[in-house]
Amino acid sequence: MKFFIDTANLEQIKEAQDMGILDGVTTNPSLMAKEGITGTNNILKHYVDICNIVDGDVSAEVISTDFDGMVREGEALAELHEQIVIKLPMIKDGIKACKYFSDRGIKTNVTLVFSPGQALLAAKAGATYVSPFIGRLDDISTDGLNLIAEIRHIYDNYGFETQILAASVRHTMHVIDCAKLGSDVMTGPLSSITGLLKHPLTDIGLEKFLADYKKGN
Ligand code: G3P
Repeated sequence: MKFFIDTANLEQIKEAQDMGILDGVTTNPSLMAKEGITGTNNILKHYVDICNIVDGDVSAEVISTDFDGMVREGEALAELHEQIVIKLPMIKDGIKACKYFSDRGIKTNVTLVFSPGQALLAAKAGATYVSPFIGRLDDISTDGLNLIAEIRHIYDNYGFETQILAASVRHTMHVIDCAKLGSDVMTGPLSSITGLLKHPLTDIGLEKFLADYKKGN
């Protein structure tokens, strides 16, 4: 399973990249605003800064909600850097724009996906990635992980190549469960990645190894 980090924070992106396990980055307008990145020029520059840190795909979201606007914005974003993936909302014009970009070999990520039917449409439109938001489903007492399982089942039935990018991942158990279910990618906060390192027996074992080494030296 690929690991993407879901942030626009350059320090956190660098930390994950330095671990050597990062496969890409996802952003959205809310994550940009959280880092204080506002104004079109600053946002575009920030995407380039992110691309210069990581080796993999970097999702950059359009803010237009009409087909022409999405195409105009998406083409400008794609020009920024070869690692940019155009992130499009799961609405009718977003699906139309997804088909437009996939026909032209430009990578896409269809976001704000909350149902298997929406994921099926994204795959039909040739999306590179589909982003089911599992945490936000959990927030409303609906099993987010079950959506990953349903999409996996549908995609495998027909050999769709669209990659399932589990989004709105909140913690380590989401990461592990996504891996068990065969999600192609997960995107989460840095804590959902570094949390995987933790086990008390690792810490106790290491402490003992080092103490025993010191006894003999
Ligand atoms: O990847 C989508 C993500 O940014 C949404 O996460 O935690 O706001 O539901 P969250």
